[in-house]
Amino acid sequence: MAVAAATQTPGSKHNIEAMREAFYARIAKKDMAPLWKVMKNVVTKEPVTRTKPHVWPYADIKSLVMESGGLITAEEAERRVLILENPGMHGESRITNTMFAGVQMIMPGEVAPAHRHVSSAIRFILDGEGAYTAVEGEKAFMSPGDFVITANWAPHDHGNPSDKPMLWLDVLDFPAVNFYEASFAEHFDDATQETTRKDGDSLSFYGSGVLPDGTRTMNRSPVINYTYARTRPIIERMMQSGDIDKRHGARVRYANPVTGGPVLPTMGANLAMLPKGFKGEPYRSTDGAVFVCAEGRGTTDVDGEVLEWGKNDVFVVPPWKRYAHNASEQSVLFSISDRPAQEALGIWREGN
Ligand SMILES: [Fe+2]
Repeated sequence: MAVAAATQTPGSKHNIEAMREAFYARIAKKDMAPLWKVMKNVVTKEPVTRTKPHVWPYADIKSLVMESGGLITAEEAERRVLILENPGMHGESRITNTMFAGVQMIMPGEVAPAHRHVSSAIRFILDGEGAYTAVEGEKAFMSPGDFVITANWAPHDHGNPSDKPMLWLDVLDFPAVNFYEASFAEHFDDATQETTRKDGDSLSFYGSGVLPDGTRTMNRSPVINYTYARTRPIIERMMQSGDIDKRHGARVRYANPVTGGPVLPTMGANLAMLPKGFKGEPYRSTDGAVFVCAEGRGTTDVDGEVLEWGKNDVFVVPPWKRYAHNASEQSVLFSISDRPAQEALGIWREGN
C-alpha cells in the first residue's frame, strides 16, 4: 500500500505532495475528499456572500412591467412577475441567497388564479388601488404601502376589479425552501376562492389589542393585511416623540399579534420613518435585507458604495455588509429579511 510505504520511508517534500495527490485521486473514486483542503472555504471566519448591493429604480421597473402586460396575460403567466435578479446571482431567481423578489402587475379585469405553495410570500404594494389578494377566506383590497402576507400552504388568488393596473413587490422564501428541497405547490380547479370574511376582518380581530376567544397560537400572523393607513401614523408618532434609532430611524417590526413573534417563521419585515437630514450610524447584520422606499429620497452607503433611492425604488443590502442610511427628505423605508429564520436557528448576529 502506498500509504503504508509512506509512513515507513518518509520521502522528500515533493514525494509527499505526489503521494497526497495520488491519495486524493483514489478517495475521489470512492466519493470521499479531504476536509483539510477545503476547511477555510466551508467554515469561513466571517460571512461570505455572493449578494451584491443594488438598486432597481421604479421608473425602469414600472415601464418594463407595463410592457410585459402587452406580451402575456396574468392568467397565462399564472403570475405576471418580473424577477429582480441580484447581479451577483443572475439566472438564479433570487435577490439574496435565501429570498426571491419580483414585481407583479395585474391589469384591470384580470385574475391571477388560485394556488398554494409551501413558500411563504409577502406583498408590499407600490402602485394602484382596488385590486385584491384573497387569502384564507379574506379578500384584502390593497393600497400603496400595505403589507400583505400569504403564509405557508395558504390558498391565494389576486384580482383587479379597478380601472388601473396594480403593481406590488412580491418577496418569497423559496430559495430557502428549495435549499431544504421541501417545496410543494398545487393549483385549484376554480380560478378564485370563495371568501367568507370581509376586507379588514383579520386586522380588526387580531390587530386591535384584543383577541377573539379561542384564538390559537400559530407560528405566523393571523393578520392578512397590515395597512399603511394603520402603520404609517405609528412611525410618524414615534418620530415626533423622538423615538428614533440612530441606525434605523423610527422603526417598527411587523409582529404576530398573538405571540409577539415575526409575521412569518422564515421572513420578517419592518417599516421605518427617517427624518429629513437623517444620517444613520453604520450597522450590519447577518440577514441580507431588501428595502423599498415608500416615501422620500435618500442614499444608503453599503461598504463605500452609494445606493441612491427615491419613491418605490427597491434596493438590496447583502449580509454582513456595513451600511448607513441618509435621508435628504423625510422618508419611509420598508424592509424585509430572513432574520426570523436565522434567529430560530441561533445563527443571527448584528454589529456595527
Ligand atoms: Fe403564489
